[in-house]
Amino acid sequence: MEHTDEQAARALLRWYAEMGVDEAVAPQPADLYSWTAQEQTFARPTRQSADRAPAPQPQPVAPEPTVDEAIKTAEKIAAACSDFEALDAAVRSFDGCPLKTGAKNTVFTDGVVGAELLVIGEAPGREEDQTGKPFVGRAGQLLDRMLASIGRSRTENALISNVIFWRPPANRAPTPLETAVCRPFVDRLIEISAPKAILIAGGAPLQALLGVTGIMRARGIWREVETASGTTIPAIPTYHPAFLLRQPTGKRLAWADLQSLAEKLKER
Ligand code: URA
Repeated sequence: MEHTDEQAARALLRWYAEMGVDEAVAPQPADLYSWTAQEQTFARPTRQSADRAPAPQPQPVAPEPTVDEAIKTAEKIAAACSDFEALDAAVRSFDGCPLKTGAKNTVFTDGVVGAELLVIGEAPGREEDQTGKPFVGRAGQLLDRMLASIGRSRTENALISNVIFWRPPANRAPTPLETAVCRPFVDRLIEISAPKAILIAGGAPLQALLGVTGIMRARGIWREVETASGTTIPAIPTYHPAFLLRQPTGKRLAWADLQSLAEKLKER
């Protein structure tokens, strides 16, 4: 059977989708949210224009910094920040995390700096990338309700962040290297905000902050997050709200974790 170009293109697209490739990533960030339908149509290369386009010339490129260099740079920059405003600006201008290239916004924190409670989640998703605020999608709305159940909110007495500040493509899990590059800023946020307790939302931040795998067994058990400069803060892991949206039976255990958190926050 003879395959047409269209059949071949459709088969390729289907294969991409099956492999989880659902976004095109270019070397430069493209603000797709602001494109009109017409712009998106014009942006698709046609066979003709591709045939006529001059062959791309190799450009001299500066060598990319290694991950170790990026981590060292992040450590140096974060350590030099003496207050939240400096840290916030430093994260926004930091270019050492490759995820930034494909993201629309830096998503650092939302809430009250210096609050007794710091919530740390995984990474921004689509809504967070669009708004520049952590936990604003469906999972974020559930998180707000969970916090409200123990008298906490991002507008009054909680600060919310993530272990990654840029949306990973297609919402894939952040890699250990991506979390390592962001970690110095998370540590400095913990030191500057000096919370009484940290709520770790989900398995990815559990691994990133405590080096522990397995949220099912680790949830509900108090541990200490230690920053690079030795500050320690009590932390309790619980299920990620996105998991609870898929598995509402987990809410009973998450509720118990929140009660334990509320008790800890009451301690003198
Ligand atoms: N999930 C997270 O872990 N963080 C967000 O900011 C949003 C969804």
